[in-house]
Amino acid sequence: MIQKNINLQSFNTFNINAVAGMYANITDEKQLIELSDTKEWNDNPIFVLGGGSNLLFQNAPKGLTIHVDVDGIEIIDETDDYVLVKAGAGVVWNDLVEYALKNNLGGIENLILIPGKCGAAPMQNIGAYGVELESVFDSLSCFLINEKRFRQFDKDECQFGYRDSVFKNKLKGEAIITSITLRLTKKHELNTSYGAIQSKLEEFGIISPTIQDVAKAVKEIRQSKLPNPAVTPNAGSFFKNPIVDNSVVSKIQEQHPQVPVYKIDNSNTKIPAGWLIEQCGWKGRTVDGIGTWKHQALVIVNNGTENGKKIVEFARKIQSDVFNKFGIKLEPEVNIIG
Ligand code: EPU
Repeated sequence: MIQKNINLQSFNTFNINAVAGMYANITDEKQLIELSDTKEWNDNPIFVLGGGSNLLFQNAPKGLTIHVDVDGIEIIDETDDYVLVKAGAGVVWNDLVEYALKNNLGGIENLILIPGKCGAAPMQNIGAYGVELESVFDSLSCFLINEKRFRQFDKDECQFGYRDSVFKNKLKGEAIITSITLRLTKKHELNTSYGAIQSKLEEFGIISPTIQDVAKAVKEIRQSKLPNPAVTPNAGSFFKNPIVDNSVVSKIQEQHPQVPVYKIDNSNTKIPAGWLIEQCGWKGRTVDGIGTWKHQALVIVNNGTENGKKIVEFARKIQSDVFNKFGIKLEPEVNIIG
């Protein structure tokens, strides 16, 4: 079950060369029980790999790498209003979206084309175009690494936040997600208020959109803004959008009245990191093949290196320029490994 020295280059969308000393591919969750009895599991740190689309190997992962490849989409409950759909952690997220669209199940149409696999979706509460996973989330199953047992988590227990969950905090490195269950709608509530969705629908000449129309609009917007990792290696947004005190925003507005802002609550505001990076002159700028995307400065693209440390160095330059200009610390949104 355990293989030695597996190169993970084709398993990460940044195309970084990183060799896993010990590697196990899990296609059935029961294999985790057997694996958890091995010396390799007990004596080493464990690194869980999903679609590899939201991480950067600064160094090779230490210990035992577990690639979760549990497949399958099934309906586990259904009423007149909704359907509970369970997907294995190894299902490609976009395949689940396409399944939902084909079966006219609503709730995840705005999340079309997000790279990665279903098991990673709850880790960072994936989100795009006005919708986050938590809005349709029912529960998940996972295997607890230290306790060596399966456990279910309902939505509250996942403690979802903006690109955040309990699995990035208290339970970091502790759970291997094996399946997720979503509550998808039969009677749809569309979310078309974000950015350009409405104008795209108008461009299509659609007055009463369906979930399939919304998906088509989001797909076009994404394809025009975001690089395809299969062509241009990247891991999506490299940084989180910072949430800052209103006083910081007021200061920025004095010089940049046009700064886009999203109110979080009475004292905090979210500022797009892409805007901050662009203001520092980094949009579309490339150094030795590593750069930011020409249409979206928040995405770091890699056409220059197989060494993840170089991308970390590039990201640090951006962080330091944004800090020097705006006094805001950008935090990585991708997981930096090693
Ligand atoms: N902006 C700029 N310059 C840029 C990029 C953005 O000025 O180079 C401005 C835009 O004009 C707009 C605002 O920033 O006013 C927001 O831009 P956008 O709608 O592209 O979204 P974002 O906040 O940069 C977030 C997510 C993306 C997601 C989009 C759409 C994060 C960290 N990123 O980006 O998620 O696709 O919204 O919902 O929250 C990802 O997580 O990998 C990802 C791509």
